[in-house]
Amino acid sequence: MMKSKWGLIITLTVVMLFTLAGCGKAEANTETTVETTLATQTTETVATETMATEAVASKLQKIKDKGTLVLGTSADYPPFEFHLEVDGKDTIVGFDIDIAQKIADSIGVKLEILDMKFDGLLPALTAGKIDLIVSGMTPTDERKQSVDFSIVYYEARQTMLVLSKDAADLNTIEAFDGKTLGVQKATIQEELAKTVFTNSKAKAIDKIPNLILELKTGKVDGLIIAEPVGKQYANANDDLALNGIDLGSEGGSAVAVQKDSGDFLDAINAAIQDMLDSGEMDQVISDAMLLSEGE
Ligand code: ARG
Repeated sequence: MMKSKWGLIITLTVVMLFTLAGCGKAEANTETTVETTLATQTTETVATETMATEAVASKLQKIKDKGTLVLGTSADYPPFEFHLEVDGKDTIVGFDIDIAQKIADSIGVKLEILDMKFDGLLPALTAGKIDLIVSGMTPTDERKQSVDFSIVYYEARQTMLVLSKDAADLNTIEAFDGKTLGVQKATIQEELAKTVFTNSKAKAIDKIPNLILELKTGKVDGLIIAEPVGKQYANANDDLALNGIDLGSEGGSAVAVQKDSGDFLDAINAAIQDMLDSGEMDQVISDAMLLSEGE
């Protein structure tokens, strides 16, 4: 912009000088210069417009070109996503994985799964290390400032996991006054501990199995957890139980993608809507529950 402006000023000065000098030959040369400048400007404008259109349309195309959809998830969350030995091999399964597989199939690419800490998922997505998060993630307003979300595919309530021997006593918010709660780091449960359990301490830990250990060893007195997840852990551990407290809805689960993902987010929503309409969603959820109970 600066260049062409200066070019124009110099050109005009040259035109004026030569016009004053009455030199016809130089004037012809000057005209050529002006035309070149204009031509360059037009090309630049066209190039910028083409790039902008490509950036919007290319998200889905980029994934197709890559041939793989990279999923980020925190596989400590049965029945959403968890580790299971399948034919002697450690495998990540669960209904979030089925949803991600469905999305990959609808795009026509392979699914690659990266198991991470829950608090590492959003940074990995914004940095472009993963293409999407399917991890029972709640679409909160705070998160919406940095990423976009699909439609909600599942809703759960929140409750608490305690030692079985405490289940009858530790079952109100006040019962935890002066006690310590365990929550997964960077989750809405961590938020809930601060806002609802104002007289309790909260300990935030990155992976749920580590929280379970804290509970079993008495370092924390209860875990705030989504009800279906707590149920799976209670089933798998005789010394743990849900205390029956209802801490409200956890706001639903949705798929997260980078902002302005355009046609990629459209494809995700279409796959989810299809699963909801056809009954496949209910099916993968109940299959995953059976699978994690059978562990
Ligand atoms: N729904 C909660 C949130 O979005 C917890 C999700 C935890 N997910 C997991 N895979 N550990 O904050």
